[in-house]
Amino acid sequence: MFRGLYKSLRPSVSSATRHFKPSVFNTTTTIPPHPIATKLLLLLPSTQTKHLASIAMADTKTFLQAVKDRHTYYDLKAESPIPDSRIEEIVKTAITSLPSSFNSQSARLVLLYGDHHKKLWDITKDTLFSFLPEEQKEASGARLTGFRNAYATILFFEDPQPITELQTAFPTYAEKFPQWSEHTSAIHQFTLWTALEAEGFGANLQHYNPLIDDKVKEEWGVDKSYKLVAQLVFGTPNSGPQTRPQIVTFKPIEETFRIFK
Ligand SMILES: Cc1cc2nc3c(=O)[nH]c(=O)nc-3n(C[C@H](O)[C@H](O)[C@H](O)COP(=O)(O)O)c2cc1C
Repeated sequence: MFRGLYKSLRPSVSSATRHFKPSVFNTTTTIPPHPIATKLLLLLPSTQTKHLASIAMADTKTFLQAVKDRHTYYDLKAESPIPDSRIEEIVKTAITSLPSSFNSQSARLVLLYGDHHKKLWDITKDTLFSFLPEEQKEASGARLTGFRNAYATILFFEDPQPITELQTAFPTYAEKFPQWSEHTSAIHQFTLWTALEAEGFGANLQHYNPLIDDKVKEEWGVDKSYKLVAQLVFGTPNSGPQTRPQIVTFKPIEETFRIFK
């Protein structure tokens, strides 16, 4: 049944792709690349051993090892262990390879480097500080400065148009499609978080939506109908995973997983 529906949807998938609004990407100003000298310095074993070892890691690490190695990093600096072209290759690989519900291809990603990245966190700070109680400003400000000090941010949007089309085409599942759209976005978030870490970055996932949505859409020319779902902040970690302030522990496996065979 499900597969039958899926097959019958395929023509409307290309229509979902046609509906993609390229304005999101056309309005991005190109940030000048780092000088080659900076890149070479980054690769010196004495300063960046971890990152030298991690070049092309997303291609060479086993999938499960990359899954195990992914963590949350907050203490990040505005340096990259890899060329920007490699970051963009990874993001393009994700958006052209990852699954979506009924092949809706509803994910829309925006990559912000340099001054654009900083602007995002300035917008977030201005927005938050416009209503935050005075006593919370110091802690929140420090947190936001931490994000601003990182290298770049990926914004994860979902385009509601393919979702609405699916709801019309398949009313039986109408109420499920928004939830599956969130799942689709989550798949993109996790993949990029893991792939960037495999390349030597550290990353953390933030949710300042919907507070910042309008200003963000205006600043980067993003279609007003898109829904901002998450922000992935990444940069070079100031400390390795062993010295992270928080190492999470997991619940006993007996509580979280069962096998029947
Ligand atoms: C769906 C989801 C939402 C999250 N939202 C936030 C967030 O808003 N802010 C934040 O700092 N971390 C956020 N996190 C990170 C989690 O707190 C973190 O992944 C978890 O504590 C496990 O730690 P680890 O990432 O180091 O394995 C989120 C993670 C997930 C999966």
